[in-house]
Amino acid sequence: MSEQRQWWPVYLKHGARIHAEQMGRHKVARLFGLDLNSARRLCYHIKVHGPPFCRDVAPEVHREEAPVHMVIGDAHAAPGQDLRRFEWAARFALDHRPDVVISIGDWYGLDSLCKHHSKLEGEGLRLLDDLKAGNAALKRFGDVLNTHNRINPDDFYMPRLVVTLGNHDARIIREAADHPQLEGLLGYQLMDWESWGWEVVPFKQPIEIDGVHYCHYFTRSGSPRAMSGMHHAAALIREGMGRSLVCGHSHQLHYYTKAAGISGKRAHGLVVGCFFEHWEHYASTGNQQWWRGLVLLRNVIDGDFDLELWSMDRIKDRYNV
Ligand SMILES: [Fe+2]
Repeated sequence: MSEQRQWWPVYLKHGARIHAEQMGRHKVARLFGLDLNSARRLCYHIKVHGPPFCRDVAPEVHREEAPVHMVIGDAHAAPGQDLRRFEWAARFALDHRPDVVISIGDWYGLDSLCKHHSKLEGEGLRLLDDLKAGNAALKRFGDVLNTHNRINPDDFYMPRLVVTLGNHDARIIREAADHPQLEGLLGYQLMDWESWGWEVVPFKQPIEIDGVHYCHYFTRSGSPRAMSGMHHAAALIREGMGRSLVCGHSHQLHYYTKAAGISGKRAHGLVVGCFFEHWEHYASTGNQQWWRGLVLLRNVIDGDFDLELWSMDRIKDRYNV
């Protein structure tokens, strides 16, 4: 039985020529190294569906083998919190085996460095405690993966780990800039990202992975302010000009997708919500608008993907063991 994956790459690369020259299955098999059955299937496919369109040509990856991305929204780890959610996230990754895990930023809350607090609100907050909480969260996540790999050496799993730093994480840099006398003391080196194997992408700098552009937040052209609003996801697509953009920051969930005109290339705009359960007092009733959970992007090919949402309650039911 011929499998589509055997002849599909030949279809994408040479389908137009096979169609134009009206090749028979024997010639196709001989020219492109296919067995006769695969060549027959390919010729039949071209007879029924014609040569590949430009939207078919870009993906070289078979859908079943396409990358999976997992996105962790703003996590706001802080002292005194129950940090088990970071273990749930790691167990979730072990279950779903994403190729890439992306923290969209604000992993650290760094409330002690908040410029909006009154002195009374900031009473008792300590930077050292904030850093310990974020580092402990990294350890909770990493320990689950490492323990699995130690116990199951035949089932080794370690995804690519990427963080796009958020404005809360960047508070430590702003604090250093406000106090130049502390240069060399305050900085990202106090966060344990790299020792746990994470690639660190600076605040406001996007990274493109499999055609999807990730950043803590995106801005409109010519404005330093984060995009937001009711139509946030649609605005992402508009600003991305046909590219797929994924961000966090607002703690809300927004999703919109649109296929571009003649090419049929699909773009996605996604705001991933957040990954914590507590209420942030500064947001007041805004907390009710937030979506809490984890996001999977399946079949990620050239910016296209299938979205899968996991609410915090569902994650807790499944992974709080
Ligand atoms: Fe945040």
